[in-house]
Amino acid sequence: MVNVAILGFGTVGSGVAEVLTGHEDSISRKVDDFVRLKYILDVRDFPDSPYAGCFVKDFSVIESDPEVDVVVETIGGATVALDFTRRALKAGKSVVTSNKELVAEYGYELLMLAKEYNVNYLFEASVGGGIPIIHPLSQCLAANNILEIYGILNGTTNYILTRMIRAGLSFDTALKEAQERGYAERDPSADTEGHDACRKICILAAIAFGRHIYPRQVPTEGITRITLADVDYADAAGRKIKLLGRAIRQEDGRICAYVAPHLVNNENPLAGVEDVFNGITVRGDAIGDVMFYGRGAGKLPTASAVVADVIDAAKHIGSRKLMDWAPGGEDTTRSPDTLRSRWYVRASCTNDMMRAMLGDVLPLARRGAAENEAACITADEMTRTQLGIRLQNIPVLSVIRVLD
Ligand code: HSE
Repeated sequence: MVNVAILGFGTVGSGVAEVLTGHEDSISRKVDDFVRLKYILDVRDFPDSPYAGCFVKDFSVIESDPEVDVVVETIGGATVALDFTRRALKAGKSVVTSNKELVAEYGYELLMLAKEYNVNYLFEASVGGGIPIIHPLSQCLAANNILEIYGILNGTTNYILTRMIRAGLSFDTALKEAQERGYAERDPSADTEGHDACRKICILAAIAFGRHIYPRQVPTEGITRITLADVDYADAAGRKIKLLGRAIRQEDGRICAYVAPHLVNNENPLAGVEDVFNGITVRGDAIGDVMFYGRGAGKLPTASAVVADVIDAAKHIGSRKLMDWAPGGEDTTRSPDTLRSRWYVRASCTNDMMRAMLGDVLPLARRGAAENEAACITADEMTRTQLGIRLQNIPVLSVIRVLD
C-alpha cells in the first residue's frame, strides 16, 4: 500500500483528492500497488467533506507516520510550505508540488535535500497547469542542447488579454471577470505584474540550462500598462499582444531571461493561444521547435499533473528520478536590454517625428486615435538600450517588444 497525504485543501488540493480517489483503481493498477489518500492537512474544518475522516491539523502527525510515502504540497507560498517540504523530505517522504514560488526560490536546495534522503521532489504542476512540460523537457528532450524557451505561462493574464482583444473590454473589467471565474491568484498582482510567469520561466530555465535562476535575476513586466489602443494597433499590424516568459542561451553561456508583453505575429501558433490556455515553445538544436499547449490553470487540469507525479513517486519509492540542476549565481544571467528585436512604439507625436527618431518604420493607424498620437513598428532590430537613446525626446506612451 502507498499512502498519500495532501497539505492544503484549497482549489488544487481538493482537486488532487478528487482525482486520486476518483481514479483509485486505474492509479493503483499503474503503480501495481494500492494508492490510498490517508491524510489531508488543513487548518479549517470540513465536516461535510467526503474525506472528513482524513483531516488533520498537525503536520507532525504526517511527518511521524512511517506509513506515509508521498506528501502532496498544495499550500502555496514559501513560508509554511517550505518548512513542511523540508521536514517531509527529511522524514524520507517524496514530495509532489504545484508550488512554483517554492520551486523557483528553493528548487536547488529542495532537490539536494531529496537526493540526500533518497526520495523524490517532483513539480510537474508548477508550470503550465495540466500541460506536461517538466518531464518532456528534462527527459524526452534530454538529447538536445536547448537554445531557447518562450511561451505564454500565465492563464489569467492570457484570459485578460484575450478579453481585451476579442471583446474590447478594459483591463480592469477583464481582470474582474478573471477573478469571478476563479483564475486569478489571491493577490492578482502575482499574475498581472508577471511574477507568476517569472517563477515559471525560472523553473523551465533551470531544467533546460542546468543552473538555478532566481526570480530576482529575471526582469519582469506585466500587462497592467497595456491599453485598448495598443491592442488595436497590434491588430492593425497583424499581431496579438501576449505576455511571454523567455529564456535564451547566449553565446557566452549566460541566460537572458525575462517576462514582458510582446507583439506576436498572427502566424506564430502562440498568437492563437487564447483564454486561460498556455503555450510553450522549446527550441532544441536537434529537434528544432516543439510546442506544448493546454490548460495552464484550474482545479482539475492542475490536479491531473500533480497526480501524475504522485504515480511517478509511488513507482519510485526507494529509488530516485534523475532531476536536479547546479546552484545559481550572479554569473548565470544577462540583461535582456542587450537582446536585439524590432519594437512597437506609441507616442504623443507625429509620424514624421517618429520617423525622424527611429528611421524606417511601419506606421500604424487605428480608429479614434488622438490627433497627436502616432504608433509604429521599427523596421530595424535594436536593443532596448539603443531604442531608449533614440526615444529620448519623444513623449512615449508604450514600448513593446516585437516577436518576429
Ligand atoms: N494564476 C496562475 C495562472 C495559476 O493564471 O496561470 C496557474 O499557475
